[in-house]
Amino acid sequence: MTLNRSYIVGNWKMNGALADGAVLDAIEAGIAEQSGVDVALCPPATLIAAFAQKAKAIGIGAQDCHAAPSGAHTGCLSAPMLKEAGARFAIVGHSERRAGQGESNTDVAAKAQALFNAGLGAILCVGETLAERDAGNAIAFVTQQLAESLPISAAPDWLTVAYEPVWAIGTGRVPQDADIAAMHAALRVTLVERVGEGGQSIRILYGGSVNPANAAQILVLTDVGGALVGGASLKAETFLPIVAAAAR
Ligand code: 13P
Repeated sequence: MTLNRSYIVGNWKMNGALADGAVLDAIEAGIAEQSGVDVALCPPATLIAAFAQKAKAIGIGAQDCHAAPSGAHTGCLSAPMLKEAGARFAIVGHSERRAGQGESNTDVAAKAQALFNAGLGAILCVGETLAERDAGNAIAFVTQQLAESLPISAAPDWLTVAYEPVWAIGTGRVPQDADIAAMHAALRVTLVERVGEGGQSIRILYGGSVNPANAAQILVLTDVGGALVGGASLKAETFLPIVAAAAR
């Protein structure tokens, strides 16, 4: 992982079927001409093995993992299992899991640590709700969320952070450029406080309604190391222009 390469990650959430291997193929064909950008996709867990076998330039990741390596946790998947399926990393702490599955910062830190223990990367998500933003608490809330969600072994070679304002996800609404830059700068300070100088080179992605029309403007902001893309990652036609906007 290096800061002078941008990182564009697609999160398919609970979408996608085996037939969408064609989308993976189209994205892979399209990124062949791009340089200076790392590209990854997180399909649902049912597709990880098939996609990992097909993918060459695209890193395949999971959308979550359990903190334990094995055990009586019906319906869950561990980091070693995801690794065996072909995942290179997983998203942890996505707001849809924090809200829908009641995941706490402590849970998120444990999941990230489990990924490190298994030799996988992590994309650790943080972000404020609209109520927190309207109350003027966004930076305080999100930096504390990050500090409490960081695993003990946090380091730039395996950890990526993603700032995803909850109110910007799937809504078409995006913060002002200055608000994104201010949040990323604050997250950078938190990373350096917790990790030391290594925190300078942990990539911080922006996520929330990134699309072909707004990607270039967001990706040039200071401390924005790439994007975590939901809806626009489901089709090559909308994902590839975002990758192209990040290419250097
Ligand atoms: P959208 O790009 O659909 O807003 O989703 C963002 C997201 O949650 C990515 O993890």
